Amino acid sequence: MTDLDDKARAILRLNDKGGYTLPTHGLYPYQWNWDSAFAAWGFATFDNPRAWDELDTLMASQWPSGMVPHIIFHKVDPGYFPGPDVWGTGQTPPTSGITQPPVAATMARLVWEMDPDAGRDRLAALYPKLLAWHRWWHEVRCTHGPAAIVHPWESGRDNCPDWDIGMAGVDGSSVGPYTRRDTGHVDPDMRPTKEDYDRYITIVEFGRNCGWDDKTIVDEGPFLMSDPGTTFVLLRAHRDLAVLGQALGHDVSQIEEWAAALRSALPQIWNPALGAYDARNLRTGAFANVLGSGAFLAYLAGAGNTELDTQLMRVWDAVSYGIPSADPEAPSFHSRKYWRGPSWPFLNALLAIGFTENGRADLAERLRAETEMMLQKHGFWEYFDPLDAAPCGGADFTWTAAIWLTWARHKPDSEMKGAA
Ligand code: GLC
Repeated sequence: MTDLDDKARAILRLNDKGGYTLPTHGLYPYQWNWDSAFAAWGFATFDNPRAWDELDTLMASQWPSGMVPHIIFHKVDPGYFPGPDVWGTGQTPPTSGITQPPVAATMARLVWEMDPDAGRDRLAALYPKLLAWHRWWHEVRCTHGPAAIVHPWESGRDNCPDWDIGMAGVDGSSVGPYTRRDTGHVDPDMRPTKEDYDRYITIVEFGRNCGWDDKTIVDEGPFLMSDPGTTFVLLRAHRDLAVLGQALGHDVSQIEEWAAALRSALPQIWNPALGAYDARNLRTGAFANVLGSGAFLAYLAGAGNTELDTQLMRVWDAVSYGIPSADPEAPSFHSRKYWRGPSWPFLNALLAIGFTENGRADLAERLRAETEMMLQKHGFWEYFDPLDAAPCGGADFTWTAAIWLTWARHKPDSEMKGAA
């Protein structure tokens, strides 16, 4: 155990609000959906019951439709915008009205495999909720084939260039007055622009005005795009959910059908001109023509190919610290602006899982070592400049600490013995 291990555990404890974890104090003062799934994985390295608690509090806010919201506003904090009043979802506790990439089943599987006996009852209680969420994805958001998002925030890669063409079609000019809070916590130049924010809030207002009706939002909402990242996370999570279901003795043929349908839709998000998977505006059919980390999540779902390998190595070799969230050779690249270039440790962890499973342990180790270097230099920041490892965004970040404990820290030989 090293000093950094202790610090990482201390961050999880610091951000623990009792059953749920904040991504970081200040900037993100609530429970976030996919952040919580990674927090569970991190907790499982030293407190297995606490890991299950995290997944339980997340799924406890599931909507009757099966949707699991991207933010749960357990205790109102005026330091965050848009808060519960802006979303107006009428849930208790209040929640946002959109979702986030469904990585929870994948993380639940990792947590469960770390102690199957201790986790069996917890998993059995969680399973029907995960199943309902996956059904919601299949029935509500995969109607065009690949997984569709109705707000850039649903992708978890909020302002990546993938969404620029969809956002261009959103008229943010009539949004009411509001005050952002994020730019009071971190350097505004690292955050999305005012024009982006006007559009983000306009999409939220549409959802609120139609009572968060799924069908209206998908059919008529201001924004609808296929997201490669969410598609691959979902495809992978279907597989993990099926493994969990089988372990519990359930019939998982329906999950397998959802996965097969999703896999057969992948050609729709393959852009031959780009030589990669690509986001697509479902209102117009147009490709984004942007290479980003969403495409590389294909490896997590076992959907890589040699053309994608070429793109991966091109963008990775252009930087020094991990895989950049957007193409360093594209004009939209910005090495410190959130999802328009920076390296995100938790995303590197997902990509490395994919590399290992696809027989590329060498790539997984390179990615781990580069990520380890960033964290050793600066600690557990939200994200990093991939060119010089400069720390960016919020400090003491939950999922960065979690993936240190689970993946990024170098494991001495003594800890490797007996490891699978
Ligand atoms: C930002 C990120 C998103 C994350 C959230 C909380 O919105 O883009 O992926 O879940 O912050 O950390």
